[in-house]
Amino acid sequence: MNKKQLSELLNSLTLKQKIGQLFQSPGVAYNDDATATGVTYLPWLNSDTVENAGSTLNIFDNKKLRQIQKNHLKKNPVPLLFMADIINGYRLVFPSSIAQGCSFNPDLAQKAAKITAYEASKCGVSVTFSPMIDVARDARWGRISEGYGETALLNKDFGVANVKGYQGDDLSSDDTIAACVKHFAAYGATYDGRDYNEAQISQNTLKSVYLPPFEACIKAGARLIMPSFNTINGIPCTANKKLLKDTLRDKWKFDGVVISDYGAIKETADIGGAKDYAETAKMSLECGVDIDMVSESYYFNLEKLVENGEVDEKLIDQAVMRVLMLKNDLGILDDPYKYIKEEFDNFDFSSEQHEDFAKDFVCQSSVLLKNEGELPLNKKDDIAFIGPFSVINELMTNWSRVTPHRDKGISIEQALAQKFGKNKFSCIKGSKFAQPEIRSVKLEKFENASPSQEELIKQAVSKAKESKKVVLFLGEHKDLFGEATSRSDISLPKPQKELFDAVYEVNKNITVVLFAGRPLEIKDISQKSKALLYVWFPGTYGAEAIVDMLFGDAVPSGKLDMTLPQCIGQVPIFCEKPVPSHYSASIEGGIKHAYSCRWIDVTNYPLYPFGYGLSYTEFEYSDIKISADTMTRDEKITVSVDVTNKGGVDAYETVQMYIRDVVTPYLSTPLKTLKAYKKVFIKQGETAKVCFEINEEMLKYYNIDNEYISENGEFKVFVGANSAEDNFVKFTLK
Ligand code: NOJ
Repeated sequence: MNKKQLSELLNSLTLKQKIGQLFQSPGVAYNDDATATGVTYLPWLNSDTVENAGSTLNIFDNKKLRQIQKNHLKKNPVPLLFMADIINGYRLVFPSSIAQGCSFNPDLAQKAAKITAYEASKCGVSVTFSPMIDVARDARWGRISEGYGETALLNKDFGVANVKGYQGDDLSSDDTIAACVKHFAAYGATYDGRDYNEAQISQNTLKSVYLPPFEACIKAGARLIMPSFNTINGIPCTANKKLLKDTLRDKWKFDGVVISDYGAIKETADIGGAKDYAETAKMSLECGVDIDMVSESYYFNLEKLVENGEVDEKLIDQAVMRVLMLKNDLGILDDPYKYIKEEFDNFDFSSEQHEDFAKDFVCQSSVLLKNEGELPLNKKDDIAFIGPFSVINELMTNWSRVTPHRDKGISIEQALAQKFGKNKFSCIKGSKFAQPEIRSVKLEKFENASPSQEELIKQAVSKAKESKKVVLFLGEHKDLFGEATSRSDISLPKPQKELFDAVYEVNKNITVVLFAGRPLEIKDISQKSKALLYVWFPGTYGAEAIVDMLFGDAVPSGKLDMTLPQCIGQVPIFCEKPVPSHYSASIEGGIKHAYSCRWIDVTNYPLYPFGYGLSYTEFEYSDIKISADTMTRDEKITVSVDVTNKGGVDAYETVQMYIRDVVTPYLSTPLKTLKAYKKVFIKQGETAKVCFEINEEMLKYYNIDNEYISENGEFKVFVGANSAEDNFVKFTLK
């Protein structure tokens, strides 16, 4: 439809129908099989709300979707828009986002999102609530696995890559879907690690850390954005004028659709920030929130508010127009069945190319933290494979449960059989996933009562005793992280610690493969094991890729996108921390006296720093050079380093560049901020010259007056294999 036709459509709608376009109905209102991702006890929901709704979420059966659309169009002149939480893949599931960030390779994320869009667009879905680009630094927070780690830069780069991958160049094409960036903003900055809790955050941190990924994604063309559940300094994001109006609409000029999170609009009243749901409707609409996802605020109040003159109907028209434009650009106004054509019902999604790509993505996202000559394994060795994660398939996060057509993948045991034949290696469970006290309801159902923990350990010990080496597959079950799943203890669940200790008693040649949704507290197992491979949650082809890595047919090349703490007491611990206020000089040079900023019972240093990760080869860094000692604002200078592959395997290395502005008047700023990185493939014996360009933008920061500026003076540029390395060159900005 052209602009004129869209206006005619808008004008033809009654006020009630228009308000309906601004209401998102839950999937369960149409179909019992829809996946619930929020509260489904909604006594206010009736056939009238459902008929008038403009969109719904998380329904996946093509035939049912066609019927739903058909019924809908009998009563509503505007086609229903189907949105969904397609997170890290539809049929083919890729590594979790926190794992993807460790690849330091946004091109892979873009390709994964493109494949996802291709698949989802044949299953009815034309909007995904992805990517989540919340910077997160607190390992207790349950949703940390959904973003790309602790830095603004990785969240920004991976966010943009996802937007481009989902949306392509043309939203109206058959294989693309619209991206919805979330959660705006500072959702990951919850002050005590609990999900949905308040973020207490300065304007400076908000602007320099939490907002840039969103701004970049909006610039890249993201069509939707979702305000977050949390409050920032007490103000709910769903009714935050500064954030939604002044920043998003006015400053960034976003003209796409703002959709609230599930039930979030009404919550401004629930927390005492408004007197009733009518007031919340007015507040959020005036902030530019277009769609009310599954709450009664808009649908049951806007009509009256317009009639009473409390809300200008023009605001409703603007919001409806944004929704209609989205539907139009997706092509469903012209063809309501575009994404649910009959010919898609038996669509063959299999693609060897996509599968190989998924495996490679796992290897590029897995982080080798330790290797005392243990890996790769030799298939001739006598190896015991033990651990609860060795015998299950579906090595993916809980979001995958939303999409019933996911390809669940195989277990490590099956992958070993696939690679070496049925009788070569076997796997045993060895322990329960978690102690009953922390088992979630879902996990409780999943774990059988027998055999008992004692019996499992007994079997494991006897197997470990008679083997030369042991590989333990341990970690955090997918029901122990995610939405509303924060933890105060981030160590390995107790039964698995028992397993580790029992095996360690009888066999010291231990390799640990760790599955996790967050940085775990793993000091003990890191010290005691000989090799440690952090695989997060790798997705459909996880098991095959892990077995390939273990036996050297693939090389892990991930680097940590999150700092790993020594213990929970250090959390939140992250690389880009401002210098502490008291006796700060002691930080750069290490702790020198009792009055330093420190804990008395643990070092200031993490267990593994941001950016850390080993390979099956060794890389040597030499000859760091800077092209000039001074730089002006319209100039660019270059820093280069030689990286030599000294080992016996061709492999990737991620070279990282951090910058420190040495003097920032009145302010403490981070000692090092990640400004650029390059992942390069270097053949054994060869040297790659890796160059980084430095421009003025990289030197800017928010000063004491919240102005975004660069300042004349000295800068240090650190180039190395991780954030803890201290090789730097200097230059002066003039
Ligand atoms: C709540 C979550 O916070 C959000 O990420 C998700 O997209 C919506 N529910 C819809 O399921």
